[in-house]
Amino acid sequence: MKEGGIIVAAIYYAIGTLIDGKGNHTKGLLCGPIAVHPKWQQQGVGPILIEFTMQKAAELEYPYILITSNPLYYARFGFTPAFKNEIHLEGIDNAAEAPFFMMKILDESKKIPAEVFHHPSCYSVFQEDVEQFDKMFPYQEKRVLSGQLR
Ligand SMILES: CC(C)(COP(=O)(O)OP(=O)(O)OC[C@H]1O[C@@H](n2cnc3c(N)ncnc32)[C@H](O)[C@@H]1OP(=O)(O)O)[C@@H](O)C(=O)NCCC(=O)NCCS
Repeated sequence: MKEGGIIVAAIYYAIGTLIDGKGNHTKGLLCGPIAVHPKWQQQGVGPILIEFTMQKAAELEYPYILITSNPLYYARFGFTPAFKNEIHLEGIDNAAEAPFFMMKILDESKKIPAEVFHHPSCYSVFQEDVEQFDKMFPYQEKRVLSGQLR
C-alpha cells in the first residue's frame, strides 16, 4: 500500500498445501508477515490489507488461509486455532504451534483434509543465500517495537 509514493504497509502470502494421510492435496494460502509503518499503525490500515487478502483468496477459490501470529489480534478477522480443524504445521511440535497457527476457512462447502500443512516451496532457503541477500542492503539492527504483535 502506497501513500505519497512511499510504501506504508505490506502483506505477503504464498501458496502451500495440506496433505492428508491418503495423499489428498488441497492448496491454500499461508499469510504473513504483514507490516504497517509505525506512523500509520492503529488507523485501520492492517485490517484493510487482511480483508483484501481474504477477498482475493476467495475470488481465486482458495478454500482456506493459514497464519502463524497473535491469536488475539487475528480472532477479530475470524481466524481460529487450526488444531480445532485437526490441521497442523509441518516440522513443529503440536503443543508449540497452538494457538499461534490459525486458520480461516473461506469455502465451507469444500472438504479440507485434516492433516499437515506443508510450507510453500519458496520458504525453503539456504541460510548462506539469505546472508548474501541481506548484504545487498545497509545493516539494520533487529529491534522489537511497541506495535509488534508477539
Ligand atoms: C500488527 C499490525 C500489522 C496491525 O496493523 P494496524 O494497521 O496498526 O492495525 P489496526 O488499525 O487494527 O490497529 C492495531 C490493533 O491491534 C491491537 N493490538 C496491538 N497489539 C496487540 C496484541 N499483542 N494482541 C492483540 N491486539 C493487539 C491494537 O490494540 C489495535 O486494536 P484496536 O483497533 O481495537 O485499537 C501493525 O501494528 C504492525 O505492522 N506491527 C509490526 C509488525 C507486526 O507485528 N506484524 C504482525 C506479524 S504477522
